[in-house]
Amino acid sequence: MNSETNGIVEGNLQKAPFFSGGARELVRAPHRFFLQLTQEYGDIVQYRATPEPAYLLNHPDFVKHVLVSNGRNYTKETHLNKYMLQSLTGQGLLTSENPLWRKQRRLIQPFFHRSYLANFADLMVEATNETLARFDTYAAQNEPFDIANEMMTLTLNIVSRALFGYDTTQQSHRIGEAVNTMIEIAKPKRRRFQEMLQVLDEIVFGFIQKRRQQPHGEQRDLLDMLMQVRYEDSGEAMGDQQIRDEVMSLLIAGHETTANTLGWLWYLLAQHPEVVAQIEAELDLVLNGRFPTITDFPQLVYSNKVIKESMRLYPSAWSISRHTVADDDIGGYHIPAGAIVALSPYTLHRHPAFWPEPEKFDPERFTPEQEATQHRYAYIPFGAGARKCIGDQFALMESIIILPMVLQKFRLNLVPDHPIEEHALVTLRAKHGIMMTATRK
Ligand code: HEM
Repeated sequence: MNSETNGIVEGNLQKAPFFSGGARELVRAPHRFFLQLTQEYGDIVQYRATPEPAYLLNHPDFVKHVLVSNGRNYTKETHLNKYMLQSLTGQGLLTSENPLWRKQRRLIQPFFHRSYLANFADLMVEATNETLARFDTYAAQNEPFDIANEMMTLTLNIVSRALFGYDTTQQSHRIGEAVNTMIEIAKPKRRRFQEMLQVLDEIVFGFIQKRRQQPHGEQRDLLDMLMQVRYEDSGEAMGDQQIRDEVMSLLIAGHETTANTLGWLWYLLAQHPEVVAQIEAELDLVLNGRFPTITDFPQLVYSNKVIKESMRLYPSAWSISRHTVADDDIGGYHIPAGAIVALSPYTLHRHPAFWPEPEKFDPERFTPEQEATQHRYAYIPFGAGARKCIGDQFALMESIIILPMVLQKFRLNLVPDHPIEEHALVTLRAKHGIMMTATRK
């Protein structure tokens, strides 16, 4: 690697160190490349990714600056957003900007509040039971299976039922195929991508049309919610295209992120039988063989710590990037207008000043005492500030239902010699899946 010496620009602001090579590493394993950059250059470094200057920021104070204190200076107008995500989610929550974003977020936020989410606990349990029935077959036949893939199916079932209720049962296979193919292709100009987008659009607009003809009356699912809410100022309902964009945002943002989180959780647990034993003891004590319900969640203290620590090491949204509107000063460094700034939960969660022995899997980092001393922005699996994940409680609820339900019934083991390779696409996946065997308890 080579760097330029820091020059002084604009008064006493410094120029960030510049790493001028690396395009190949950036494509091959961008998360590891980022980690290497932070280890060699520190908390701020300029690198070459796109025509505009790009900066990797790796300090919690910088995270706070970009996502919270000076959040208005940072938009989502990045290559990933404009080129890839917006072709799927249009002007939905995930990719829209103000003033539309604020208006939509205000309208949708209440439905992701913990009290409302309680409505989804039953469907989460039910979908998990369907997955467990498949695990039973694998166990009976001693057949290895890809648990990462199983988690994809499960979280897609959950989010699509939360969105459309049980209307999806017949469509779930097609929805799954379309969503997964598009995420894998990640190139909106490809024909197959466009075909899958059309399949999904037909399904979503079909649901909207059917619901208009036969409304539910009460609110049974998120689609009812999107169709029944009214804008405060105008009293108007959301248009079909906007409903479609919000549905797509929730499908895309809510499915793969959660599936990867769970996949990595199983991977870590398979390597830490002592942690599994401690979870099992907690489950026996709190649940005594029952399914978990929302009143149990606060009691599953150790399980919650394990989930948090797993998202520290494997944050599914491994990179969060923004476009700089006007020149800025971050920690004494000059950031020009029109730049890209990248924040990486993957590297931030491994910052040795905030996470001693960063590669070690240690759920005890998340005791209440430890959490009280942590820098608030050193741990951002769900982002931070106004654009923080709307589905964080939804995802945590899925995890705290699925983890106990699986461990109450099965022992999981990694298939020896199967390669586990971190693959940082839009989310952090396991490139060759995570192959496991299950035995019934
Ligand atoms: C463990 C699972 C999840 C992870 C790690 C995750 C992570 C994130 C992160 C980091 C952001 C902020 C991105 C940014 O600032 O650029 C975000 C935004 C978002 N997430 Fe999640 N997410 C998860 C689950 C979910 C679920 C289950 C849903 C919905 C059902 C969801 C819906 C969204 C939406 C709509 C946004 C955009 C919010 C806005 O800009 O207003 N996510 N997510």
